[in-house]
Amino acid sequence: MLEVSSIPELRAWTAGQRRAGRRIGFVPTMGFLHEGHLALVDEARRLSDAVVMSIFVNPLQFAPAEDLARYPRDLPRDRALAASRGVALLFTPDVATMYPPGAETVVVPGPAAARWEGAVRPGHFAGVLTVVAKLLNLVQPDVAVFGRKDIQQAALIRRMLRDLDWPVELAVAPTVREPDGLALSSRNSYLDPAARTRALALSRALAAAHAAYVAGERSAAAIERVVCDVIEVSGGLAADYIAVVDPDRLDPLNVVSDDTIVAVAARVGQTRLIDNIILGVGV
Ligand code: PAF
Repeated sequence: MLEVSSIPELRAWTAGQRRAGRRIGFVPTMGFLHEGHLALVDEARRLSDAVVMSIFVNPLQFAPAEDLARYPRDLPRDRALAASRGVALLFTPDVATMYPPGAETVVVPGPAAARWEGAVRPGHFAGVLTVVAKLLNLVQPDVAVFGRKDIQQAALIRRMLRDLDWPVELAVAPTVREPDGLALSSRNSYLDPAARTRALALSRALAAAHAAYVAGERSAAAIERVVCDVIEVSGGLAADYIAVVDPDRLDPLNVVSDDTIVAVAARVGQTRLIDNIILGVGV
């Protein structure tokens, strides 16, 4: 695996790959890699000939009171994991490379960014879309792979690619979970054992929603109630939202079907976690 931190080195490498007729896959990350990220690499390798991974903790997508300063980082470990999984090029730019002094243009998402995560984290998706747009322009991949755990992020990126006529294929890979159901997330490292146990109510609530759907429930309000009840009974979580929505615009629904998304965000003490399922698929 080669590692570069500058834009000219990145462009030279990707140009060489394209000249050699190789399809480029791209996995953007904020590092502190776990099996969820590595599953994105597996998918990118399946869909391309050479995989670029970026590691960049993007300040633009954190609000001032959020966890930018304490966001977990471990570049030596990330390097070893990325190399072991077959990443061909690791791109590790610093903030001045991505946002040189004077940079002021941002991507403004549409109204679908203002609800759910966007309502709780104003400005978050403008930060995400801006850095993803820059990274896609730098890497110019044939295919980019994102995780389903950040389902609203994936939906907004899909919309950006469509709205701006971007010739990049988007792949969305399933959420990877611990054996007990907890969705993998770099922020799980904030959880002490007691908080981690409380956090399991998220996947339990989504599993209960799936069970209700399989048993024949088709009312969105009833599915939302099921999720809410499990979270309330657990006692250890404060829900930010429970969304029962369509997979494209994440609009609330009255009646659910196989492709309906049930997404939930909740706080376990200071830590904010998100998770979701597709009703026809389950946890
Ligand atoms: O999902 C993430 O880790 C980040 O939001 C992304 C897509 C790498 C942009 O910073």
